[in-house]
Amino acid sequence: MATYKVGYFVGSLAKASINRKLAKALIRLSPPGLEFQEISFAELPLYSYDYDKSFPEVAKAFKSALENVDAVLFVTPEYNRSIPGGLKNAIDWASRPHGRNSLTRKPSAVIGTSPGRVGTAIAQQQLRSVLSFCNSPQMNAPEAYIQFTKDMIDDEGEVGDEPTKEFLRKYMQAFDEFLAMVVPCLNSRPS
Ligand code: FNR
Repeated sequence: MATYKVGYFVGSLAKASINRKLAKALIRLSPPGLEFQEISFAELPLYSYDYDKSFPEVAKAFKSALENVDAVLFVTPEYNRSIPGGLKNAIDWASRPHGRNSLTRKPSAVIGTSPGRVGTAIAQQQLRSVLSFCNSPQMNAPEAYIQFTKDMIDDEGEVGDEPTKEFLRKYMQAFDEFLAMVVPCLNSRPS
């Protein structure tokens, strides 16, 4: 069985982030062939193309972490019906300098949670659009808009609610199957 290195983004910088809880739950429920490392973006400055001639060390390390994984998983909140600013800034760094887009041909999946009923659906659609522009092959289905309810997931990522647990397990199984389909194909045809 192939092993895939997955870099995951938690779109929230909040200490008590419910999306961080969701990320922990997804890791716990994922099939054994997936290995996870967080791609942190908290220390990145706000991107400007003035940096393109000489990226700061923090941005070089960020891009290098991204280039060393087989795939990326975005676990994100929705802020004002859109992608949180910090996450969008990270994607802008990842996509530059021109010709060195670290997201091109990098398979991805998107998931998120909020207490509201739309469960981050609008932010996810916008994120999918951004990832399309960045040429990241995306897992189309299943979609996962998780309405966070009190005590649904604890700080260690243990899911209290059985149907949600089963849904998240199936989501990660589907991601593993998606990677088994696309990663060998991408590797057999280098850009
Ligand atoms: C929110 N929240 C929110 N929720 C939602 O479903 N749709 C939205 O557009 C917004 N907008 C929004 C803007 C800002 C600036 C904040 C701080 C919050 C509520 C949000 O879902 C809730 O705070 C979650 O806890 C955010 O996830 P994290 O950061 O805890 O992972």
